Amino acid sequence: MTTATPTTAITDIATLVTNDPSLGEGPLGLIRDAAVVIDGDRIAWVGESSKAPATDNRVDAGGRAAIPGFVDSHSHLVFAGDRTEEFNARMSGRPYSAGGIRTTVAATRAASNNVLHANVGRYVAEARRQGTTTVEIKSGYGLTSQDEARALTIAAAHTDEVTFLGAHIVAPEFADDPAGYVDLVTGPMLDACAPHARWIDVFCEQGAFDGDQARAVLTAGKERGLIPRVHANQLSYGPGVRLAVELGAASADHCTHLTEQDVDALAQGETVATLLPGAEFSTRSTYPDARRLLDAGVTVALSPDCNPGSSFTSSMPFCVALAVREMGMTPDEAVWAATAGGARALRRTDVGRVSPGARADLALLDAPSHVHLAYRPGVPLVSAVWHGGTLT
Ligand code: NIG
Ligand code: FE
Repeated sequence: MTTATPTTAITDIATLVTNDPSLGEGPLGLIRDAAVVIDGDRIAWVGESSKAPATDNRVDAGGRAAIPGFVDSHSHLVFAGDRTEEFNARMSGRPYSAGGIRTTVAATRAASNNVLHANVGRYVAEARRQGTTTVEIKSGYGLTSQDEARALTIAAAHTDEVTFLGAHIVAPEFADDPAGYVDLVTGPMLDACAPHARWIDVFCEQGAFDGDQARAVLTAGKERGLIPRVHANQLSYGPGVRLAVELGAASADHCTHLTEQDVDALAQGETVATLLPGAEFSTRSTYPDARRLLDAGVTVALSPDCNPGSSFTSSMPFCVALAVREMGMTPDEAVWAATAGGARALRRTDVGRVSPGARADLALLDAPSHVHLAYRPGVPLVSAVWHGGTLT
């Protein structure tokens, strides 16, 4: 005999973002006075609240809005320590540079597995409380074969979306031999790390890896079955975005300094442009031009880029507000980018939407509409989060 899982209806949702245009109004598939039925870990039904089928349990949303759980496609959570002094110095005028990563590498190498596990768990829980139900996690603060494999194993205990970022910066031991470090990353380090990761990433930037080095890293990763994503065009113009498109990367991340050629490449390719406004906020830099990308037809995702150096926030609502205020996005576009856009950047079809068959990941907002995420910046609006059907 099989026992059916109890079903739950969330009723009286003032505005529901489904991200399924066939279910409601506009690109967000908005349904007013909506209900959602959860069966086990999946969404079973969505529609008007008055038409909700009978269920075992019922939760009254009391006129709140509901959105798909945020999909954060870019984070660096396996690290120890923080960089408060560097932030302080930056806010007194010192510029951000890729080299600060070394400080965190030293702290991370010295930390125990338990400390790193606890840190990741804390930041994932912090993001969850702010509505994030899917998070990608990168390595990149180990930079030896052993330390990178350790970071990936720890990340994999917290998410399925694990990214090998051995090419975050040239390891300090190879300061005089960057080519030797690229050989390590594309050889023995990749051997140790590929089994633990789905994705491969590289920081293609002045002070990190140039276009040829980035190509070597991503190509070696592809040969081992990893899918590329690229830290591209963050601090300066460069070859990262075009390389990402050429190699079929799932995402080009940052996209702050773009030429017309870069924008055209993104518009013609399959690569999502993932914008990380927390980094510009925390490095006091010019924001990427989301409007230009959207007008060119590029698919845009948003992520907080949580890391101790350039963007120490796990808050997707904060990024939605920045994207609207500073980057020319409408509230609808920013909410889509933080949910469905993130899912595209991770090539996932089961998350980023609230429609039948999707994983039951949703956030209830203490507000009548998703627009309040930008309209009421800094206010903790996320009042309940379901992850895989469980109220967390
Ligand atoms: O996405 N750009 C490279 N990686 C991070 C910064 C890491 C750090 O400063 O520790 C980023 O901004
Ligand atoms: Fe990053």
